[in-house]
Amino acid sequence: MADRPYIVGNWKMNGTRAMLSEARAIDRSAQRLMKVEVALAPPFTLIHAVHREVEQIGVGAQDCHSGPDGANTGDISAAMVADSGAKFVILGHSERRQDHGESNALVQSKINAAIEAGLRVILCCGETEETRDSGDAENYVCNQLKESLPSDFNKAEEALTIAYEPIWAIGTGRTPTVDDIESMHKAIRSLLISLYGAEQAAEVRILYGGSVKPENAKELLSAAEVGGALVGGASLTAESFLGIVIAAA
Ligand code: G3P
Repeated sequence: MADRPYIVGNWKMNGTRAMLSEARAIDRSAQRLMKVEVALAPPFTLIHAVHREVEQIGVGAQDCHSGPDGANTGDISAAMVADSGAKFVILGHSERRQDHGESNALVQSKINAAIEAGLRVILCCGETEETRDSGDAENYVCNQLKESLPSDFNKAEEALTIAYEPIWAIGTGRTPTVDDIESMHKAIRSLLISLYGAEQAAEVRILYGGSVKPENAKELLSAAEVGGALVGGASLTAESFLGIVIAAA
């Protein structure tokens, strides 16, 4: 599984039952594009409905609580995410780090809970434009990962995917140069090797996210150490999302 490109759609706070037709269309095409692993992360309210509609693509959540079921009004535990039919969860997305004050330590505890519940994890990381302009992007991102990665990697290497998403490229139409993407992904790979050894580190795909579109996907996915894409806006229609999947094939 780790050798196929992994294209994941993050629907964010978008999605009503009317969008189930888009999920069905993506799933039908994915059944013909077996060289690519395809997945969708709809909002919580649609996870079970999408899970029942699709056969080929993976279904995931965009977050989970760090604790067990209990007195946490409005929150969703990792066990509840798994029970809904989701097979993975996106954690540490910059929008949650910013909007909900999620620290690296909280993201790490969410990852531990998700792995305990049998979920695969997509761990997001990325720098602000100010950090990029200061020349400190790679140090910042590697530190973010060191403090967010699961406590016990021995349980996690097959469960873990990393998504590098420069904050300034999310939703803006701007992307780093291919050289900058390659440099960052190589820095992340080196970090994983230093922490876990080459064999276990090789199991971890490193996705790129931030304004991936059908028009730029082939170039972005050609960068070294890019194992796929985490796609926001362009995943909301089957037509644009499949344009990226086809570019990855
Ligand atoms: O999680 C993926 C997302 O942050 C990227 O968003 O709209 O720039 O593809 P977008």
